[in-house]
Amino acid sequence: MEQTLVLIKPSGVIRCLIGDIIARFQHKGLIIAGLKMMQLDEKILREHYAHLVDRPFFPDLLNSMMRTPVIAMCIKGVDAVNVVRTMTGATNGRKAAPGTIRGDFSMSGQENIVHASDSVENALIEINRFFSEGEIFDYTDNTFKYLYAPDEV
Ligand code: PPS
Repeated sequence: MEQTLVLIKPSGVIRCLIGDIIARFQHKGLIIAGLKMMQLDEKILREHYAHLVDRPFFPDLLNSMMRTPVIAMCIKGVDAVNVVRTMTGATNGRKAAPGTIRGDFSMSGQENIVHASDSVENALIEINRFFSEGEIFDYTDNTFKYLYAPDEV
């Protein structure tokens, strides 16, 4: 079963959206396999956003991501990467569809409430970046029959 990484960014933390965002994923039927609050530093952010270091907005992105601690979540489910990206919405909150997290809570490309892994390959890398092995839990075997048909799992 797929796992993906979600960060509730400082924009989501400071606007008191932590509970709403976790609830959306849980109500959907996704499993929270890992969850913690972390203060990110420049080192981990330069690694996480390595593909963006040359973009003009990178210094602002760094400052924004260090403004408060973030919530890191490892979220598990069938097709979890795509399901979570769909729930997250387009990068820019002004363009994100209503009903998505960014579409409902954000007016910005930077202050866009959440980060979500964009591929299965990156999800693995990002989960390992933010979590150690003992911080991911597998406690859900009995719940799958209430979430999926047998041939979906
Ligand atoms: S891009 O711009 O096409 O490379 O978009 P993406 O790969 O989705 O990554 C964009 C991430 O950078 C953050 N960010 C901004 N994006 C666009 N414009 C501005 N000004 C900007 N400032 C910051 C944006 O929130 C994306 O972060 P994540 O955490 O990946 O959602």
